[in-house]
Amino acid sequence: MQIDIRPFPLPASPDEPGEAGDALRRSHEFNERSNVLRYTEGVYVNTLVEHLASLRPTHDGRVDRLLAWDGDDLVGVLTMYARLLDSVDVTEVTVEPEPRLPLDAQREVAEALVARAHEEAARDGRTTIVVSAIGAANGPVTARTGFGGADPSEPGTAPLVARGYELEQVYRVSVAELAALPDLHERHAAALARASAYELVRWQGETPAEHRESMRALHERMSIDAPVAGLALEPETWDDERLAAFEQSKQEGGRTLLTVAARERATGELVGFTTLILPTSGATARQHDTLVTTPHRGHGLGMLMKLDNLLRLRELRPDLVRVVTWNAEENRPMLAVNEASGFLPVAYEAQWQWKEPQP
Ligand SMILES: CC(C)(COP(=O)(O)OP(=O)(O)OC[C@H]1O[C@@H](n2cnc3c(N)ncnc32)[C@H](O)[C@@H]1OP(=O)(O)O)[C@@H](O)C(=O)NCCC(=O)NCCS
Repeated sequence: MQIDIRPFPLPASPDEPGEAGDALRRSHEFNERSNVLRYTEGVYVNTLVEHLASLRPTHDGRVDRLLAWDGDDLVGVLTMYARLLDSVDVTEVTVEPEPRLPLDAQREVAEALVARAHEEAARDGRTTIVVSAIGAANGPVTARTGFGGADPSEPGTAPLVARGYELEQVYRVSVAELAALPDLHERHAAALARASAYELVRWQGETPAEHRESMRALHERMSIDAPVAGLALEPETWDDERLAAFEQSKQEGGRTLLTVAARERATGELVGFTTLILPTSGATARQHDTLVTTPHRGHGLGMLMKLDNLLRLRELRPDLVRVVTWNAEENRPMLAVNEASGFLPVAYEAQWQWKEPQP
């Protein structure tokens, strides 16, 4: 195979004719097929408009997507994400050989993509590479957290093992079908009664002015409290510009953010939140962050906010019949809430980390 890996310029619009537009459309088609294999049908669907939006640079990050060609055949994709405000020595990568190729050819493509990722990271001065690859509930290799695993012979994983990457963490991807939760109202009422010291505040889209300062602090807390195992990801600092840019980028291509926060009645303080991303197509909403600050945990607020957002989702967007979420396999508190809310695993994602050896 003659593998030629090259970036493509982003077209100004998804239907732009010519080379850049064609490359984007091939990239999108690849992405959609790969998401079906990874997460099952209909779980992670993006329109071409959303795909283009996801590749545009934002205030806090830059995406480089390189396509691997064998002649006119697209044989693999390398996606590299560079944070710009924190963790600036890290690059986060996915390596996807074309799954219809024979296994040997997939390994060859994956090896070439990983080698290219190392070249690009070195050029960008990034000394830590985190690759997200196919994972498993259990071994053969176990994550350093002790929860979740990966198969070292899987084509996208073999080049990582060969280079001495460590399996730091495994994510569980789970889906809840809203139709399978007929007692949402009853459970919501029970959770409300249990958390009577708190009230709920809800909004759609950008955070209202009166909650922006609190939400910035909660986002900062999220970057510290959500488990990242041994991954070299730093705590984040959120100014208002970052919050605005985050909310804008998550709503690119016509998506909407649906947020509910918990406010302590005695102090008026926001002590937690959960957000769903509502896409423009498909039938699946995406769970984004959920957080309850430490002093307020264990009162069922995590459960209450999630149930509340599921109820609101059902009212506002009945076309979105399920929700998908990503959780660290060692994150028992969050998994406890999700398992009790009907989420069932559909996939696992392994986070492999490589650090440039110190001289
Ligand atoms: C996950 C999280 C939102 C749960 O919030 P919560 O309000 O404590 O949730 P609940 O009270 O509904 O309890 C959920 C589970 O948390 C655990 N828990 C209970 N009390 C706890 C406490 N004082 N401290 C920590 N965890 C506790 C229990 O496992 C509980 O499950 P159980 O009721 O079946 O025993 C919260 O722990 C958190 O913010 N964690 C850090 C951020 C994070 O990891 N977010 C998810 C990223 S995917």
